[in-house]
Amino acid sequence: MNILVLNGPNINMLGIREPGIYGKEDYNFLCETVTNYAKEKGVNIELYQSNHEGDLVDKIQQACGKIDGIVFNPAAYTHTSVALLDALKSVSIPTVEVHISDVSKREDFRQVSYVRAACVKTISGHGIAGYVEAMDFLIENYGENK
Ligand code: DQA
Repeated sequence: MNILVLNGPNINMLGIREPGIYGKEDYNFLCETVTNYAKEKGVNIELYQSNHEGDLVDKIQQACGKIDGIVFNPAAYTHTSVALLDALKSVSIPTVEVHISDVSKREDFRQVSYVRAACVKTISGHGIAGYVEAMDFLIENYGENK
């Protein structure tokens, strides 16, 4: 099974940005955590982070036919991007929407998720562990031994 862990803008600033909301662990820790978990589970993993909406659209399109599941934290683009929604709908790859913080308890503008309509599940507020939960969900429901 091939899983893409895709992160949007400012996720590269983890550990520095608003640690009271996003925690003290940095992006490298996130990458190590999901890479180690992939090894443990015997799945292939690809990691990609971009601050640019079009780059994320390109990455989703390139996943078509190659990737079996996407763990996606679109970050701020969650709340604005029809382009990312359309990209996910175009490729029909099972995608879990992940947020480190609990967006449901934050500002009104974070209550809207454009991508959610194209996602099989949303995990919010579980920190970096949410990425591992998302991988588990994809492995259990869409993996080779499903
Ligand atoms: C986030 C929540 C978004 O509202 C915010 O813009 C982010 C990160 C999260 O992981 O909690 O950048 O997706």
